[in-house]
Parts: sequence; structure tokens; C-alpha cells
Amino acid sequence: MSGTTRTAETDEGERLGVDELRAHQLRHLRSTLRHAYEQVPLYRAKFDAAGVHPDDLRELADLAEFPATTKEDLRAHYPFGAFAVPRERIARIHASSGTTGQPTVVGYTSADLETWAEVVARSIRAAGGRPGDLVHIAYGYGLFTGGLGAHYGAERLGCTVVPASGGMTARQAQLIRDFRPDLLMVTPSYALTLVDELRRQGVDPRETGLRAGIFGAEPWTEDMRRELEGALGIDAVDIYGLSEVMGPGVAAEFAGTKDGLHVWEDHFYPEVIDPVSGNAVPDGETGELVLTSLTKEAMPIIRYRTRDLTRLLPGTARPAMRRMERITGRSDDLLIVRGVNVFPTQIEELVLRADGLSPHFQIDLTRQERMDLMTIRVEASEATTAQQRRTAPGALVRAVKDAVGVTAEVEVVEPGALERSVGKLRRVLDRRGTAADGPAHGA
Ligand code: DLL
Repeated sequence: MSGTTRTAETDEGERLGVDELRAHQLRHLRSTLRHAYEQVPLYRAKFDAAGVHPDDLRELADLAEFPATTKEDLRAHYPFGAFAVPRERIARIHASSGTTGQPTVVGYTSADLETWAEVVARSIRAAGGRPGDLVHIAYGYGLFTGGLGAHYGAERLGCTVVPASGGMTARQAQLIRDFRPDLLMVTPSYALTLVDELRRQGVDPRETGLRAGIFGAEPWTEDMRRELEGALGIDAVDIYGLSEVMGPGVAAEFAGTKDGLHVWEDHFYPEVIDPVSGNAVPDGETGELVLTSLTKEAMPIIRYRTRDLTRLLPGTARPAMRRMERITGRSDDLLIVRGVNVFPTQIEELVLRADGLSPHFQIDLTRQERMDLMTIRVEASEATTAQQRRTAPGALVRAVKDAVGVTAEVEVVEPGALERSVGKLRRVLDRRGTAADGPAHGA
């Protein structure tokens, strides 16, 4: 399970040297820009308005001159307006639910589905997966890209796939006990739910025989990695992606290095920008990840603003491809509580470090007399002592104050009291805008 370059364990794209990779990117970037400009009115209009033409791209850095694409651009062309091929050539459609308004619809040709399966297969291999492994997939199947994306990638690698999807947790835990999968692919929050359920069934989750977990679709922390690795006796690695760009498999972490996610740069070109000015920032600096597809047919995507915050780092396990640091959060997850910036992942770290508390928590934001009130509602762990139960709230209040700078209230509830995730978890309940307690929050 090392991140070294053994030929049998890499595909052609992974073996490109850095110069070959840059040449490949330039070639594909040019053809993608042309394809988008010629086939998608959305891009033609945006390029024309910005006074740029695909022929203006002479080197990779010229991409920064092209306009960015946002979720709103895609929504405005709902449902099929961002497609670059006739609808008849679209082999599959997915959609991202979004929290408000219209879903974003994405399409794939059969060649796109091949590419997708390849990058997911590569990601599973990075996690230590091998042909013949049994893979339990508990990402949701359906319009969400998680389930089917993982599924075809695992099949491509030559694994035995159990398409469990999300939900029916007791049965899933039973299947894990009976089938003894090697790999688990699921959101980290639902992995915790499965851990609890296995324990409820009287099984030590470490005895299930699992070797690795491939977790993504929501932000998680190093503390959560330790929690899941300890609970399940596995290597826990990160996988990243988003529907607009492909689905899971845009970037993935190697089990041998666990040092952030390699962006599969032969298919996706990453940039990081300052989210406010929109200007590029150098590698190594944190900002908003912007992605451009290099090989997609059905829905080329040019400089898509992901809203995800990260930074680019040099490659390690695959030296030619850059890594991105684990996503700390989305710019739209940022909570402004009494003027202080708070990411839910910061609270996750502190909850996981606290004695006597479980990893299950919720952030409840309300407004009292024009003041924001942040309540961290967290379950006691099964083994909490009476003494810990008394001291835990005060200790967590202090830790949050010290690390984040906000005075929170902490409410410790019984194990099992909070709603469990079956997919992407909704951590934050922001009730500051609701009628009774004052005007809508501007942030
Ligand atoms: O969540 C695709 C996916 C499925 C990725 C399964 C990994 C595993 P969307 O529903 O379009 O697609 O949501 C994309 O989820 O912009 C991030 O904000 C977040 N996200 C995805 N992976 C990670 C990750 C899928 N590893 C949005 N860490 C993205 C943090 C993630 N956030």
C-alpha cells in the first residue's frame, strides 16, 4: 500500500512526466475551449463579452484571461443548455440537488463515462484497492453522482461491487458483517453512522475485515480521519469531486502518503483564485479552487468556481500532478458569528478532541436580542462518566473560545439523540433569519 510508481499499478495518464503532462494539458485545453466556444452559446457569449477567443490561449497561464463559470450560469441554462453535443449523444444525466432552487443538470457521453470510470478506478487504486477486492458502496445511488460514480470505477478496477446506496443502516451493517468487504466508499458522516450501528449489533467494527475507507462528498478533518481509522481499523483516505466537473474522482488521496489529494491533472486543470477579487493566487496559497475539464465531451466546463477552499501543493506519490490540501470548507459554509469567521470543520476538530463526547454534533445558530447565539449540541459518548459529563461542556466552551474566538453554548445530549446522516450531513441549523428573532442575517 505504498504510493510508489509500480507500472502495473498505474495507468497511462498517471505515468506522464511533467513536461508531457503540461503539453497534454495545453493541447486539450485548446480543444476544450474551442469545443465550448463553438457548441455552447453560454461560453460563446461569455468569451465574446470578455473579448477573448480560444485562439488566444498560447500557454497554460493564458487560461486566467478567460471568464469563470458559476453555478448560476449553469442554472440559467437549465436543463440542457450547457451541453455541447446533441441530446441524443448524452448517455447519462445526473443532477446536483443544491439547497435552493433549480438543480444543476450534468450530462455525459459514453466516452465521458469511460473517463469517469478510469479516474475513479485510479482513485480506488490510490487508496490501496486492487482487482478482486470487495467494495461496499454506501454513497447514494441516483441523480447524485456518488453512488454510480464509485460503482463504475470499482467495476472498472475489477472489484466485486456491493451497491448498497445510502439508508437502511441496520441491513447495511449486517451486509458488512456477512460479506466482509475490503473497501468502504461512503461519506465520512455516514461511515460514523455505520460504526454506531455495527456496535449496536454487538460487533466491534474493527473485526469486519475492512482495509480502507474512501471518504468524500463533504468536508472532514484529520481528527475525523483518526476517529474513523481507529474505529474501523482501516486506512481512511479522501476523495473529491463535484457534479459540475464530473462527480467523485476529480482528486484523490494515496493511502501510502495521506498528504492531501492528487488532482488528476490529465483530465482536470486546477487553479486557485482569491474568492473576492477573482485573481489567481500562486500555488501554496489558499483560495477558491477553480477547475477546467480537459477531456469532457458532453459538458466541457471552463474555469468553474467550485466555492471550495484549498491550496495547491507539489505532487508526491505522482510527482507530475499537483496535490490539493483537504478542503477546509466551502466559502458558502463559512459562518459569521458575531463578526467572527467560523468553519464547521473547526468545531469538528474540537469536538473530536474533547473527552467524553461523541463525534456526533450539530451547530444551531439563533439570534437573541440582535446577538448571534451559537449552540453546539453534541452527544455524550456511550462510555462517558458522570464526571466527564459535568466537565465536558465547560471544556468545549473554552476550547472553542481559544481556538475560534467565539463564545458558544454547549449542550450535551444523550447518545443517539441527534439525527444521523445517511449521506451528506447537514451540520448547521441557521435560524438567525427566521421571523421571531430579528432581521435576516446578511452573511
Ligand atoms: O459530492 C461528488 C462526490 C461524491 C465526491 C462522492 C466524493 C465522493 P456534489 O454533490 O456535486 O458532488 O457536491 C460537490 O461536495 O463542491 C464540495 O463542496 C463537496 N465535496 C466533495 N468531496 C469533498 C471532499 C459530490 N472530499 C461538493 N472534501 C464539492 C470536502 C467535498 N468537500
